[in-house]
Amino acid sequence: MKVLVTGVSGQLGFDIFSQLKSKGIECVGTKPQDFDITNEDEVFEYINKISPTVVVHCAAYTAVDNAQDDEDLCRLINVNGSENIAKACAKLDAKMLYISTDYVFDGEGTEPFETDSKTNPLNVYGKSKLDGEKAVLENCKSSFILRTSWVFGENGMNFVKTIIRLANERDKISVVNDQIGSPTYTKDLAVLICDMINTSKYGVYHATNEGYCTFAQFAKEIVKSSGYNTQVIEITSDEFGAKANRPKNSRLSKKSLDDAGFSRLPDWQDALYRFLNHK
Ligand SMILES: NC(=O)c1ccc[n+]([C@@H]2O[C@H](COP(=O)([O-])OP(=O)(O)OC[C@H]3O[C@@H](n4cnc5c(N)ncnc54)[C@H](OP(=O)(O)O)[C@@H]3O)[C@@H](O)[C@H]2O)c1
Repeated sequence: MKVLVTGVSGQLGFDIFSQLKSKGIECVGTKPQDFDITNEDEVFEYINKISPTVVVHCAAYTAVDNAQDDEDLCRLINVNGSENIAKACAKLDAKMLYISTDYVFDGEGTEPFETDSKTNPLNVYGKSKLDGEKAVLENCKSSFILRTSWVFGENGMNFVKTIIRLANERDKISVVNDQIGSPTYTKDLAVLICDMINTSKYGVYHATNEGYCTFAQFAKEIVKSSGYNTQVIEITSDEFGAKANRPKNSRLSKKSLDDAGFSRLPDWQDALYRFLNHK
């Protein structure tokens, strides 16, 4: 197996690359300067030169609020870019794993979303990631679509690091308490992804750390576990006033993982503890 990981400078790409290396699997990580993801010929030329057997596509436009004003660029990277990678994989007979998001759903109701539940993204980023999924499925038969949520890892900025910074600066912080979902530690997701790409069990999967919480509950756990006394004040999404709407219910069912015989990820509190104690 030879794996090409796009977005290796990001949170998830970094840990997938590290996990592959630690298992002695040949891998190449790519950054934006290596090739223009929006140029079909350049994408093919680069991937053809590396000749991987698997491409794990983590590179994406991930600034959810900015995307509301930057739709063209967001779609160019997340839709056209993913389509270009999928076409290159198909030509080279390589497998492709595309990382997607809970934001493909509208978050209505309280039940966990199944992989075949109706999609209905609430924001530009979610729509671009959904259209990226479709482009991959249409262009590369040997593909995995893996939807995850609330990602945190050592390499990059994320909710956990932001809360720790704010807890260090303030006595009180306000955090939304009407969005419920599952935090996901990139190191745990990387283990699953490395197992998955070794198989031919193509299809759509949901994978997050186990258990659910609201962002306010997540923040309280981060503050407590980091040894701060900062008070977490629960507010609504409307009070917070982010530019992009986000789903209130981001619960993702893991039935497809179970059915395919893949192991679920550990509980999110366990993952947070390991992240905070990472040296
Ligand atoms: N973060 C979350 O909570 C979350 C939740 C669900 C799903 N996801 C999905 O999970 C995947 C990984 O997310 P992440 O949090 O690890 O993302 P991230 O830390 O923001 O990293 C994104 C990566 O994409 C690269 N990139 C951006 N624009 C590019 C371009 N035009 N050409 C090539 N590379 C480009 C970035 O490179 P530079 O850093 O050099 O710009 C970076 O390496 C993404 O597909 C994302 O949509 C994330």
